[in-house]
Amino acid sequence: MSDNKNILRTRDGSQTLFVESKNETYHSKHGALQESKYVYINKGLDYWWSCNPQATRCRVFEMGFGTGLNALLAARYALTSTHDIYFESVENDPLPLSTHQALGLFNHFDDLGDGTILLDSLTEKWNTPHQWFPNFRLYKNQIDYFQWHASHTFDIIFYDAFGAHAQGEMWEIDALQRAVACLDLGGVWVSYCAKGSVRRNLKSLGLEVARLPGPPGKREMLRAIKVE
Ligand SMILES: C[S@@+](CC[C@H](N)C(=O)[O-])C[C@H]1O[C@@H](n2cnc3c(N)ncnc32)[C@H](O)[C@@H]1O
Repeated sequence: MSDNKNILRTRDGSQTLFVESKNETYHSKHGALQESKYVYINKGLDYWWSCNPQATRCRVFEMGFGTGLNALLAARYALTSTHDIYFESVENDPLPLSTHQALGLFNHFDDLGDGTILLDSLTEKWNTPHQWFPNFRLYKNQIDYFQWHASHTFDIIFYDAFGAHAQGEMWEIDALQRAVACLDLGGVWVSYCAKGSVRRNLKSLGLEVARLPGPPGKREMLRAIKVE
């Protein structure tokens, strides 16, 4: 059963959702768009490509599709480059069309084309790979993360669960291990989270973990590389 969610305007003008029962938002109140771009695109995708300049394609796994904001940002990244991106995500509580419409995040992506087509890709086409743009393939799985099985490895993991106070189990070693298991050697795990226990858990799973300066309003975030 879906929790009650309210729309909240964040400081950069983009909107997010507040989940009453979790006392938690989908994105940072300091700026949903700004934070997602900084954490997942600048410190994730862009970083991975700077380490792999010869690569022609990148496979991203996202834990928590939610509003689809990270998918939209990654699609824009693909469209402004010659790179191919395969973006696979899981979501156990897909948002209805009415919520996507009210949130209006797709309005920030006029450059990606018609809003109705963007909305269709965000809300429909579950459980089947979908060539959203010529060099961007989206695969949204409507499934619980703990039931999902990777059919191949990934270059980057966008770990975008709710915060530890709202969803502690997602930051425990068992949950993190599921993601790390499908990450390629040299692959990048990235998240807005900066919690010490998460950093230690990732280290114990064989990742080299860096604390990076956080997006506006947050001191730090984590990025980890699979080195063994
Ligand atoms: C912090 S929100 C971020 C969502 C998304 N990345 C975005 O930008 O909107 C976390 C998302 O993870 C989903 N989620 C939480 N636990 C999950 C699980 N066990 N399996 C699949 N999805 C889950 C939630 O429903 C929510 O959509």
